[in-house]
This record gives sequence, structure tokens and C-alpha cells, in this order.
Amino acid sequence: MGKDTYYLTTPIYYVNDVPHIGHAYTTVAADVLARWRRLNGDRVHFLTGTDEHGQKVARAAEERGMTPQQHCDDILPRWKEMLGLLHISNDDFIRTTEDRHEARVQEFMQRLYDQGDLYKSTYVGPYCVRCEGYYAEAELLEGELCPIHRQPVERLEQENWFFRLSKYAPALLDLYDAHPGFVQPDVRRNEVRAFVEAGLEDISATRTEFSWGVPCPWDDGHIFYVWFDALLNYITAAGYGADEEAFSRRWPADVHLIGKDILRFHAVYWPAMLIAAGVEVPHQVYAHGFLLVGGEKMGKSNATGIRPSELVEHFGIDCYRYYFLREISFGQDGTFSWESMEERYTTDLANDLGNLVNRVLNMVGSYRDGVVPAPTGAAGDAEAQLSRDRETALAGLAAFDRLAFKKGLEDLWQLVGGVNRYVEARQPWALNKQGADDDLDRVLYECVDALRVIAVLTSPVMPDMAQSLWAKLGLDEALEDQRLPEAGEPGGLVPGVRTERGQVLFPKLEE
Ligand code: MSP
Repeated sequence: MGKDTYYLTTPIYYVNDVPHIGHAYTTVAADVLARWRRLNGDRVHFLTGTDEHGQKVARAAEERGMTPQQHCDDILPRWKEMLGLLHISNDDFIRTTEDRHEARVQEFMQRLYDQGDLYKSTYVGPYCVRCEGYYAEAELLEGELCPIHRQPVERLEQENWFFRLSKYAPALLDLYDAHPGFVQPDVRRNEVRAFVEAGLEDISATRTEFSWGVPCPWDDGHIFYVWFDALLNYITAAGYGADEEAFSRRWPADVHLIGKDILRFHAVYWPAMLIAAGVEVPHQVYAHGFLLVGGEKMGKSNATGIRPSELVEHFGIDCYRYYFLREISFGQDGTFSWESMEERYTTDLANDLGNLVNRVLNMVGSYRDGVVPAPTGAAGDAEAQLSRDRETALAGLAAFDRLAFKKGLEDLWQLVGGVNRYVEARQPWALNKQGADDDLDRVLYECVDALRVIAVLTSPVMPDMAQSLWAKLGLDEALEDQRLPEAGEPGGLVPGVRTERGQVLFPKLEE
């Protein structure tokens, strides 16, 4: 069996703490992409999970007076709740403390060891526990701060097993050059390429000063460095070494979505590990920017940590999922503020979309008793414009495949705006007054048919809203059975369906 599945992943999250909106950002984006590919007819496998080993988690457990395992089991529900809250449609969830993972990590690393890719030596140098990362002295800020966290690093001196990363530098450079899409966006690719070109040092693959990790099978007292363990989740969860059939259908992954702070691990260490083991590398690693609050990266260590539930309670799940992707260019840093979120809710969602739906369904209700008429009147310039707006939306959404969510949503809103402009241009209330029945039938039909397409196209981003809209349209088929491109074609609506006005889609926000 060959690859027949679109396989995408989020990073696996450290369970040192509970989720904030920075973590939710990657997860929602991945979910939108997963739903978008399903809508296009792909078989999709969407993986997320938790990164439970390492010093950072061990310390968090210690602070709470728990064993690491107790601590992980205790925090895990908070991460799973986040998936439920945000309506994440992951197909699998991996914990790095599961047997299915640990056993495969040992096999993989044993293989590297057997072929001579690991050797024993002493590491002396900086380590950032927050990153769980090694740095070169020259990378530190002011000689002692982690470049990501701007906090003092720790100094390690440990005898451990090193991975011959440097040996794979030429293969990595070939990879970046032969597959420019491997690291995206381009600015990240250039950054990674420059880093490798400057010369790679071998890296520590095991640790000895604590024991919370996967044991090294050939040397007692060593556990694997948490990033080696963590990165392998992408293959262990896909069936590597356990279910070769499933693995061959999924691997290589189509895209690993990550934040830019963990680029080096994914774009340098990870492909080197895979190349060493003779496993294909993923098709793409896409690094998005940071969510900033008041100009600062949101994180546990600053006071800006906002929980997704606070925003969902106020704005609802649909606005939550829409806002971040519409507001921020995915590859770049972007600022969250309550004001801009409120603005998006009111303008894009309540006014542009919610009012439109209300208006159209009210007209079908009052003029045609809720039943969608056949489009009898002739189509003219206004209809031609509407169909151009549809095409813009359909073509524009392909931007999702490049993870350009903002661009895709802008184009989709061309259609929402287009239907609003169409209603203004055709003035159905005037047609009704004049008794221009055929023309009115045409206009009502076009509007409801466009709402059908809008429900389909918004469904990856706002699955709940899309479902409510779909229900209002009274269509026979299920929304989840719709597939593009067919479902986006004009005229797919069968006249005679009975629409329901129901409740407004985006009610006024509470103060
Ligand atoms: N456990 C590692 C990943 C291992 S993947 C094999 C890890 N975990 S993390 O919980 O610290 O971070 C997970 C993801 O959340 C990262 O992609 C990180 O970039 C993202 N974010 C955390 N804070 C963020 C923001 N403020 N903004 C955007 N994303 C951020 O790293």
C-alpha cells in the first residue's frame, strides 16, 4: 500500500502547564487545514498530543509534589478539554508516555546506535530548560540569556551519547535546495539553511542527571534527550515499526505545523534523524509566527497568558476560530487584542454574514412563505458579478493549502460582500412591490444558493455556524457529505426546500 492519506500534525504540547491561546493557535490552524482537506475529498489523518518527558515537566511535577507521571495524568484532561472546547477533529492523540511510543523510540535509537551514529562524549555548555534546548555560546544574548526566552540558561556538564548531526549537514543542504517547500515560509527556510551552512555541531541525544524519559536500552542510567523522544511521535503515532501498512499510507507527513521557536528541532534535527534511519522526510515543516499580547509573546512566564475558554465564553467558538486566522498572517507575528476581536465579530461576522443570512431568510419567509422558488427570471449583469464573486471565493480558498488562511478568508468574504451587494443591486423588496415575480424568484434563489455555498466554504473554519446555517436552509443532504468542487458550483440548490429563520447566527455581544 502506498501513501493515500493527507497526514498533518501539531507539535505535541509540554504538559508543564495548562494551555493558553498561543497553543490553541497552532491547533486551530491545523484543524482548519484538516477539515479543508476533508472537504476536498482527501482521506485525512490529523495528529496532536502531549510531550510528557523531560526536565521541564519533571520540575513542574516536583514543584507540585507529585511524581512526573501523576502530574502528567493530572494535567492531561486540561489539554483534552481544549480540543473539545475548540471543536478539534483530530484522528489520534499521542502521549509520549504510551508504550506504543516508548518502545518504538528505543528501537529507532537502537538502530542509530547500531550503525555508529551515536558516540559517547562530554557535553559542556548552555542549556535552556524552557526550550529543552542546547545553544552555542555565541547564540546567547548578553552572554547568558536564551535567545527565545531571554532568561538565563543553565550550564551543563554531562557525559552522554552524541548524535552525529554534523555528518548530515550536506544531506540537509541538499534537501533544502532540492525541496524549497520543505521549510516554509521562505524566510524560515533561509534562516535554517544559513544555520546549517554555518556548520553543525553534533548534539547530545541522552541525559543522565534525571530519569524522567525513555530509557536508553544500551546504557543504563541514560534517558533519551526529550526532543529525540518528542519528534519521533510523528512516526510512532503513524504506525512506524508497529503497523507498516498504516504507516505507508500516511508517511511522509504532508505538513508539520509548528511555531517558529521550535523550527531548528523540526527542520534540522528531525530530518537528520530520519535520513540517518533511512526513513523518508516529511513534505513540509511550516513555522507560524507568535501571538503577542501587548507586544509580548504569550507564555506561561508572563502575565499575558489568556485561556482559550475566556474568549470562547465571550465571543463563541466560531468567532474564536475565525478571528486568529483572519486577523494575523499565519507566517508572521500578530497581536491579539479584545478590541480587534470585537471588531471582527461585529463587522465580519454579525454584520456582513449574520445580517445577510437574516435578511435573505426573512425575505424568503415573507415573500415566498419560506419556500425557495425556482430561478425563473433572466440572469443579467448582477448575476454575472455574483458568479465572479463566487469564483473569487472558491479560487481564493486554495490559499489554505499554502497555509495562507488570512488571504483565503479575505477572498471568501468577497462572496459574503458580493451577496450583500447583489441584494442592494436587485432590491428584492422593490421587485416584490412591483409584482415582478419572476425576477424576485431569481433573486431569492440566487441568494439562498449563495448562502449554501457560503455554508460549505466556511465549514472548515466555523463548523458550528456552518451547520446552523445549513440547517436554516432546509437542505436534504448533510453538510459533512459535501465535497468540493461540486458543492461550490452555482445552481446546486434544489428549488422547493423550506428555509427556517431560526435564531440569529451572531447575536449582539454582552458588555
Ligand atoms: N513540546 C514541544 C514541541 C514538541 S513537537 C515534537 C513544545 N511544546 S510547547 O507546548 O512549548 O509549544 C507548543 C507550540 O505552541 C509551539 O509550536 C509553540 O510555538 C506554540 N506556542 C506557544 N506559545 C505561543 C505563542 N504565544 N504564539 C504562537 N504559538 C506559540 O514546544
